Amino acid sequence: MTKAKFITLEGSEGSGKSTQSALIVDYLKSKGQDVIALREPGGVKISEAIRNLLLDVKNDAMGQECETLLYMAARAQVVKEIIAPALQAGKTIVCDRFLDSTFVYQGFGHGLDLKFIQSLGTFVTQGIVPDLTVLFDIEVKEGLSRTNAKKDRIELRPLEYHEKVRQGYLSLAAQNPNRIKLIRVDAPKEEIFKRVKDCIDQVMGL
Ligand code: TMP
Repeated sequence: MTKAKFITLEGSEGSGKSTQSALIVDYLKSKGQDVIALREPGGVKISEAIRNLLLDVKNDAMGQECETLLYMAARAQVVKEIIAPALQAGKTIVCDRFLDSTFVYQGFGHGLDLKFIQSLGTFVTQGIVPDLTVLFDIEVKEGLSRTNAKKDRIELRPLEYHEKVRQGYLSLAAQNPNRIKLIRVDAPKEEIFKRVKDCIDQVMGL
């Protein structure tokens, strides 16, 4: 059995993260790995309740400060309840979004101070950093056209916001080439998964 790893998936709207997450989990299970799949915000009861607050279009009065703290609060809870103990117990985790999402959506997207996000992030994650982050990059308009017709509070934001998010991701990837592996979403999901699998095999030593 290989050592437990913490794998996160990132990408702008409609990049196909969730589909790839399911494929990764099936693949790791087929290799005999003890694996837990999570999404952020969410994963546990309290964080799922916070997710509903964050994504509800009725909460259009929510300010950036409240939004940032709620994303962090949801993360603190799922880290405490599941991520930290599971990694300790030798389980591998595949998490759809993590702290990088706050850097790009609230930091690059809204202009919130990145150093502040980093210190709050270290507090809520207990210093846990992913072993591998797969970043799915897709052109903003194409990605948004792949999301549900019923858009959530974040998806409803203007194209310029989503463009800043995408550029934020590209800049994080450039700054963290060892951890963040960039995959262009320019092929059918099976083809994309072959590229994802190479990254997974490498980090898991499979
Ligand atoms: P999802 O639709 O990919 O599950 O993510 C929920 C939305 O929340 C998505 O639009 C990205 C956004 N988000 C942030 O703005 N900041 C964060 O820290 C996280 C985790 C997600």
